Amino acid sequence: MLRIVVMNPKGGSGKTTLSTNLASYFSRCGEVTTLMDLDPQGSSVFWAHKRPENASEIQLVDAHNSPHNVTRSWAIQPPRNTEALILDTPARPDLTNLSPLLREASAILIPVLPSEFDLHAVVNTVQHLRRILPSQKNIALIINRTTKSSEFKKIADKLSKQLNLPVIAHLRDTRNYTQAASRGLGVFEMDGSHYENEKTDVLKIAEWCEAKRPSESERTIKRMNPDTIALASIA
Ligand SMILES: Nc1ncnc2c1ncn2[C@@H]1O[C@H](COP(=O)(O)OP(=O)(O)OP(=O)(O)O)[C@@H](O)[C@H]1O
Ligand SMILES: [Mg+2]
Repeated sequence: MLRIVVMNPKGGSGKTTLSTNLASYFSRCGEVTTLMDLDPQGSSVFWAHKRPENASEIQLVDAHNSPHNVTRSWAIQPPRNTEALILDTPARPDLTNLSPLLREASAILIPVLPSEFDLHAVVNTVQHLRRILPSQKNIALIINRTTKSSEFKKIADKLSKQLNLPVIAHLRDTRNYTQAASRGLGVFEMDGSHYENEKTDVLKIAEWCEAKRPSESERTIKRMNPDTIALASIA
């Protein structure tokens, strides 16, 4: 199972936008896809409930509202048939509780807004990840809502070098994301040539994650620890 954790303790950096677009992409490609919303705000849940009936299926796990007829620990497990699991995390999470989940991730994506404050704040997050992970090979930055300003591009490039992390995409600041989201869709599912740039960007991110998918042998050994999700849901 490919497990993608989208995180950034800063609010409004694009975690849900990225999570929902990746879920839409993988399900559209025929992967059995599960979107797990670990944020009590429930934005990914809200998006998934808007999804048209004829859209490709995305299994949803709402970590904060489990059905009453099943035990909570069972309800918040991703379905066993999941091939691509996307985890949307809250702003200001309890990093201690989130750490086991981060350790079990195939890929960790950090969307960052192109502001000096946001770029600076990400340094602390990356330092935390360095402390808890054996390697940082599966972490990537995504600069979200980019403007044409070359000044921020320079700052982002400098940060990427300083942190020794790749910037795998620069997402444009465009209504294309909000328009798709308002229909419970991702940009990949939208018609019209004006979505081409966004499709290319989402594809780039998905392909980077795909390269981190565990091999067949790792897959059998690395079953997800049930306590990990339970702990992450109170992060
Ligand atoms: N590339 C983009 N272009 C235009 N609008 C965007 C873009 N990315 C995100 N947004 C908008 O910015 C707002 C915040 O994005 P989003 O909800 O994805 O962030 P978040 O990190 O999940 O926020 P929170 O920390 O509150 O969970 C939303 O209204 C979203 O539609
Ligand atoms: Mg969100």
